[in-house]
Amino acid sequence: MNKVLVVEHPVLQTYLTVLRNKETKTAPFRKAMASIGNILAYHALADLPLQSFEIETPIQKTNGYCPARDVIVIPILRAGLSLVDGIINFIPDAKVGHVGVYRNEETHEPVNYYDNLPPGLANGYTLVVDPMLATGGSGSHALSYLKKAGATDIHFVCLIAAPEGIERLHNDHPDVPIITAAIDEKLNSQAFIIPGLGDAGDRYFGTL
Ligand code: PRP
Repeated sequence: MNKVLVVEHPVLQTYLTVLRNKETKTAPFRKAMASIGNILAYHALADLPLQSFEIETPIQKTNGYCPARDVIVIPILRAGLSLVDGIINFIPDAKVGHVGVYRNEETHEPVNYYDNLPPGLANGYTLVVDPMLATGGSGSHALSYLKKAGATDIHFVCLIAAPEGIERLHNDHPDVPIITAAIDEKLNSQAFIIPGLGDAGDRYFGTL
């Protein structure tokens, strides 16, 4: 499938500028992240299947709709948590699971350190969430792990993707579409995305 959707909505681009700006403090950084999570969720859920059922308005009977499958949001800890508020604000019934992966700063290889997954992955519509797709190591690792746990219909939602990370996910998981707010230039020698926004987790949690 190898699908990448770059959400170029003008409002989203203004929030992304707030996040990229190194002068932005923690509070506006969090607010912009939540707003972007909301907009990304709107696009990432565009293919969510519906089922219809009969309701009655005050005037007459008509058809209503609800999701045919559970929406399952899985942030890759830690930074993935930053987009969750905005996403569940858009779809408050979503289940939320967690996968902990950090990137070893010397080898850049992903290391699993936590998981807590909701039941029903096999029939769910799953959004795996991480603001930064750099080498793609963490994302690919998390996707393999979730597929082993039964997830099938998975969408990868990020804020900024490097071409290297997109290529890695496409090679390892061609069935998983990527929804992102931007594709940046490349990785630097420390495998940081440039221009990027720095370390999303540290900026969001105020741990710089
Ligand atoms: C960052 C980021 C991604 C990962 C991206 O997490 O949030 O999870 O690196 O890099 P990759 O595509 O090369 O794997 P980090 O390891 O800094 O951990 P954190 O989320 O706990 O801040």
